[in-house]
Amino acid sequence: MVKAVVLGAAGGIGQPLSLLLKTNPLITELGLFDIVNTPGVAADLSHIDTPAVVVGRLPPNDGLKEVLTGADIVVIPAGVPRKPGMTRDDLFKINGGIVKDLATGIALSAPKAFVLVISNPVNSTVPIVAEVFKKHGVYDPKRIFGVTTLDVVRASTFVAEVLKTPSAAPNVVVPVVGGHSGVTIVPLLSQSSHPLPSDLSGEAYETLVKRIQFGGDEVVKAKDGAGSATLSMAYAGFEFANKVIRAVKGEKGIVAPSFVALAADPAGGAALSKELGTELEFFSSNIELGPNGVLKINPLGKITEQEAALVKAAVPELATNIETGTKFVLQKY
Ligand code: NAI
Repeated sequence: MVKAVVLGAAGGIGQPLSLLLKTNPLITELGLFDIVNTPGVAADLSHIDTPAVVVGRLPPNDGLKEVLTGADIVVIPAGVPRKPGMTRDDLFKINGGIVKDLATGIALSAPKAFVLVISNPVNSTVPIVAEVFKKHGVYDPKRIFGVTTLDVVRASTFVAEVLKTPSAAPNVVVPVVGGHSGVTIVPLLSQSSHPLPSDLSGEAYETLVKRIQFGGDEVVKAKDGAGSATLSMAYAGFEFANKVIRAVKGEKGIVAPSFVALAADPAGGAALSKELGTELEFFSSNIELGPNGVLKINPLGKITEQEAALVKAAVPELATNIETGTKFVLQKY
């Protein structure tokens, strides 16, 4: 029995994500919450002949509490998307408040649930959830994840394109580490399961790295004011949620990058800090998932000089983003 909940379920990401979760036969209950339209989305999805029983609730009459009660996994795509010219940090003030309120609801009604944060800026919204949970005395760093899977999905697709084998994309695995905005997104192309040509250097290498780091801008521009990545993000969120559910069900050896607190695995976190040459509270590295969430934080491993330079550039921005999220909660209490 698995109850999955989507907060922000009526949105551009929320609707296709809820549809995909409804197709997962392991999910027996699907709770949908948003400030608008969830009864309609739930009624629509409830006609699909898969096991999950769907419930959609709005804020009145303790709707959030009702949806969250009994949740095993909560995915949060609530917020406002990025408009052209807006950075992820511009979003922070609006989305920070939304995530803080929703995290409070989770801390009160589903403190043991796995929380998957999609709302941007992830580098700051994950620390917000962590601080809210600390305030309520229910913080377990193993259970809170920033969803960076879209960067991983994009890396697979773009690397397969460079290799001129687009149909191989599903099998291409490229670790993407660091965080989830601009230069904090660090693709470790040297560790690609499908090696890139040895002459991919200089401008061609930089173009590929930039495309992975700023892939979201391609979508924002193409949508021309109508939002940011929604369908690819729904796919990515579904992929990551499935991995968490499979690990909870006992499947071993599931590894995926995610932005987590290094305290989730103190030994792995310490080894990673040593590689980084500094201590950050959160970082996205390859995470091994287990029945209780984070089982192990894997080190970066062998990286090239170019990749070391990308990591070095990511660290100060990450530190600032993390502090911004943490302060946002501490100053409001
Ligand atoms: P959207 O505007 O289409 O949907 C957001 C939904 O959240 C709306 O239905 C809205 O009513 C709802 N919402 C607002 N306040 C709420 C509250 N207090 N409680 C519950 N629901 C609430 O936006 P879209 O495109 O779905 O994006 C959602 C978020 O995901 C944005 O923050 C966006 O930046 C982020 N995002 C994250 C990505 C990632 O890789 N992690 C990729 C793409 C977007």
